[in-house]
Amino acid sequence: MRLKLSQALFALALGAAGTAGALAQDETPLYVRDEMQQRVDPAITAIWAVTNVALDDDGNLDPALIDDSGWIAIAQQAAALETVMHDMAEAPVLAAASPGNTTTEEWEVSMDRVQDLIDENPAAFRAYASTFAEHAARLRAAADARDGALTGELVAGADGACEGCHLTFWASSEG
Ligand code: HEC
Repeated sequence: MRLKLSQALFALALGAAGTAGALAQDETPLYVRDEMQQRVDPAITAIWAVTNVALDDDGNLDPALIDDSGWIAIAQQAAALETVMHDMAEAPVLAAASPGNTTTEEWEVSMDRVQDLIDENPAAFRAYASTFAEHAARLRAAADARDGALTGELVAGADGACEGCHLTFWASSEG
């Protein structure tokens, strides 16, 4: 049976829309810089806001100086970090920055450079992100358990975990 032209066009349009929709969904990049600015940085800052004022004279976390709302805040922000790092680990397409958010100062690493570094080794990027997601999950559990020693250790260790990825993917010298 032959389709009328209008029917054929309609079917074609439907098919095209379906394909475009699927592509758009699969290929929407995760914008690393935007995630850093909007999710990662605020979460770690909120954690430090609680822990920095709860240190004893030796610089160790004193759990007695953290109240219930503080523990809840640490756990919630750690969960937020876990989610964003998981998103970064799983994203099929990684982009350094969203189109409107690529401006850098002259002395800063350009987003083109960051993109090149990510494209050279996306598996390593995802591995850093998923390692951090595990770190954040442990922190969430430690805060839930009100475990001051472990919370202190994991908050202190977070810095190094941020740094590892930054040294690899936010580096200025050509490699
Ligand atoms: C999986 C890799 C990865 C991890 C883990 C990571 N970052 Fe980043 N971050 C990047 C990359 C790549 C850039 C460079 C692109 C950019 O400027 O945002 C960056 C940039 C940043 C920036 C600069 C954003 C700007 O204005 O340009 C901040 C702030 C930041 N990260 C905070 C953190 C903190 C805090 C942590 C740890 C809690 C962390 N990041 C962990 C990959 C990571």
